[in-house]
Amino acid sequence: MSSFDEIVDRTQTPSEKWDKYKGKDVIPTWVADMDFKSPPCVIEALQKRVREGVFGYTAVDDETYDAILAFMKRHYNWEIQKEWLVFTHGVVSSMNIACMAVEGESVMTTTPIYPHFIKAPKHAGREVIAIKMKEENKRWTFDFEAMEAHITPTCKLFMLCNPYNPAGTVFTCKELEQLGAFCLKHNLSICSDEIHADLILNDTAKHIPIASLSPALQECTITLMAPSKTFNIAGLQASFAIIPNTSLRKRFKETMGSMVGGINLLGIIAMKAAYLEGDAWLADLRLYLAENLKLVQAFVAKNPKLKLLNQEATFLAWIDASALHVKSPYDFFLEFGVGLSDGEGFGDKNCVRLNFGTQRTLLKEILERMQKAMDNLKI
Ligand SMILES: Cc1ncc(COP(=O)(O)O)c(C=O)c1O
Repeated sequence: MSSFDEIVDRTQTPSEKWDKYKGKDVIPTWVADMDFKSPPCVIEALQKRVREGVFGYTAVDDETYDAILAFMKRHYNWEIQKEWLVFTHGVVSSMNIACMAVEGESVMTTTPIYPHFIKAPKHAGREVIAIKMKEENKRWTFDFEAMEAHITPTCKLFMLCNPYNPAGTVFTCKELEQLGAFCLKHNLSICSDEIHADLILNDTAKHIPIASLSPALQECTITLMAPSKTFNIAGLQASFAIIPNTSLRKRFKETMGSMVGGINLLGIIAMKAAYLEGDAWLADLRLYLAENLKLVQAFVAKNPKLKLLNQEATFLAWIDASALHVKSPYDFFLEFGVGLSDGEGFGDKNCVRLNFGTQRTLLKEILERMQKAMDNLKI
């Protein structure tokens, strides 16, 4: 038995995920946090810090910087410098800051996508040029032809999600080089959200930070990363932007000003412990998630009216239910006690997103309930 099989009763503490359907016979499988305890090294470091009992304003310490630098080098062979780091309490805030910090009237991104890729440019008063992802070899990739057709001279920023949420594409070196060439040709900065980078589930895929590909891409990219998805510490609100270009970093920091507070003290403690000592736990987590994904794949394979692409990363499965011809696949499965994410928020109401970052017994129950819904359809 894996430590990830340990059931954690999350109904006893408040959480967005479980509170949404409180008191109802619905298993929540929506928002992107997992039902696993964080690594023991993180829990112990937090306990030790909490015992001190004083929680005053706290800056990020040198050891934490070093832990991040070493993690980036170890996992992505990317040598970053301490000065490039800007800490924020969340990646969504950083996306909003990036959209405000980079000039231009419009922002290009892709769709369907995590909703904040569309919301953040709008908050910044930018028009959104959303290009549909293209399916190729059972995975999503960029439609460069459509991108070339829709780019405008006033567009100055490309918002990239890598690995991709939803559908879990891990972009290859070739795809990223082509995207990089497109952005350089059109003089676009890149805001690359790589929050799911550490959760690669497929041996043949490898995460490559786009900024690590060339000095030119390093200079035009704001990379957003966090330990939150990886080590299940989203509630601790700790993330960082990596911005090598001095003037871009200055604009990012000026935009933050004093409106956006920095990183949470306990978040710093958790991040340091996770990056220093969490590698073995993370390797086990990836194996566990990969096995969970197989269960989801087997369920979809049994139901030809559902479709799943070849998912390479993340614990979020994007299920295309358009062949069901129901008004709302989200409502359809909810009736059978499964609280998925509604694809509508991502740009496709015929899809649902299933969070399989949970104990296998619970995942089996979720899939059994979904199977009942499917069997009911046939009757
Ligand atoms: C691609 C992506 N970016 C950002 C976030 C949220 O990041 P944060 O909680 O740090 O704001 C999520 C959460 O699901 C995500 O999937």
